[in-house]
Amino acid sequence: MWGGRFAAGPDAIMEAINASIGYDQRMAAQDIAGSRAHAAMLAATGVITDNDAEAIREGLLTVLSEIDNGTFQFSTALEDIHMNVEARLKDIIGEPAGRLHTGRSRNDQVATDFKLWVRDQLDAAEAGLLALIKALLAQAEAGADWVMPGFTHLQVAQPVTWGHHMMAYVEMFGRDLSRVRDARARMNESPLGAAALAGTSFPIDRDMTAAALGFDRPAANSLDAVSDRDFALEFLSAASICAVHLSRFAEELVIWSTAQFRFVTLSDRFSTGSSIMPQKKNPDAAELIRAKVGRIFGANTALMMVMKGLPLAYSKDMQEDKEQVFDAADNWMLALAAMEGMVKDMTANRDSLAAAAGSGFSTATDLADWMVRVLKVPFRDAHHVTGTLVAMAESRGCDLPDLSLENMQGVHAGITDDIFSVLGVENSVNSRMSHGGTAPAQVRQQIARWTEILKA
Ligand code: ARG
Repeated sequence: MWGGRFAAGPDAIMEAINASIGYDQRMAAQDIAGSRAHAAMLAATGVITDNDAEAIREGLLTVLSEIDNGTFQFSTALEDIHMNVEARLKDIIGEPAGRLHTGRSRNDQVATDFKLWVRDQLDAAEAGLLALIKALLAQAEAGADWVMPGFTHLQVAQPVTWGHHMMAYVEMFGRDLSRVRDARARMNESPLGAAALAGTSFPIDRDMTAAALGFDRPAANSLDAVSDRDFALEFLSAASICAVHLSRFAEELVIWSTAQFRFVTLSDRFSTGSSIMPQKKNPDAAELIRAKVGRIFGANTALMMVMKGLPLAYSKDMQEDKEQVFDAADNWMLALAAMEGMVKDMTANRDSLAAAAGSGFSTATDLADWMVRVLKVPFRDAHHVTGTLVAMAESRGCDLPDLSLENMQGVHAGITDDIFSVLGVENSVNSRMSHGGTAPAQVRQQIARWTEILKA
């Protein structure tokens, strides 16, 4: 492809390290879309004839159909998707194919193709996140007032509601959604026409190609346009944070589905059995989702390191961007879909949640708050008294509501019968009406807000 400059072909090892066709063929559709936009623009600006542009357009459509139906012969000698497509175009249409690369370089070409590919994946991630959020909202709606233990340090802390717990993940995935949308808005500038690095002397129309490819505008600086991989880094960063969120929820599902917790029952459709232990039902999907952050964040780290210290403008190092992004994207979309499926299918065991909600002295804070509110005791003193009562209940092997009024008055004389009204789990959650709190009325407001957001 480089004509006269070379007397000898590449060493086999050179070809092996150089070629990217093994993976960048995944960008064939984007490459052909970019070439069609470029050819149409070259004709509109009079750089090539309408006849040549028409031959190129027809030829590219033939190439695309060959790739789609699997008859296209990819060649390692032709390095990458760009040269594979162009060489085949030449086979099909002959001389006009040689005019397609006017005012363009593989440097702006690859940046354009890759951006289009990543943009599609951002759209897929948006759809996957929306579906997951909807599944969580349905769970939250069903159990807005189901009580369960809330944890800190994975120790029972205070009772919360199932709906509140589900809505916490809606907030996390909601931030992931906004990161995806931000990244898409920021990346949507066209590199096409930056050429090798300096722009071109041909009278090209970059606004035209940008519009044809759905970009908001051409990238402003040609050096930056061919060397920028921020869009891929942002994609991987957003994916990594989302994968962290997915892993946290997956971990909860793994714990919750154990015989010790029984908070949820995962569906057969998202569980597996054991080849030796007939009783087993394993949460493999949740475990694999938990693990995906490893490769996704690995890709993020890898590309950060590839880009670190690269001088302007294009360097071949940047060819190492694609496999990381492809793998991370595939696994991110799969993890989102698997999580959505699991959440849709899972059953929360209301009775187990309720039984656990009152365990571990979960209403001790309510007792202390009652003393502050009713007896006007300073919170620190109320905390101390309550701690003594918890120790008493623990030594008797009972829960706080099981202590007698006499026992409690032995620790603080001012305590009255009214105390039992706050020791119940339902009362506890109903009282947490502060903005964003766990009271079912608050949770329903959060659900309503998100339902509105999703409609918009
Ligand atoms: N396959 C290359 C890549 O992925 C395309 C750009 C090659 N440009 C160059 N000047 N060799 O980065």
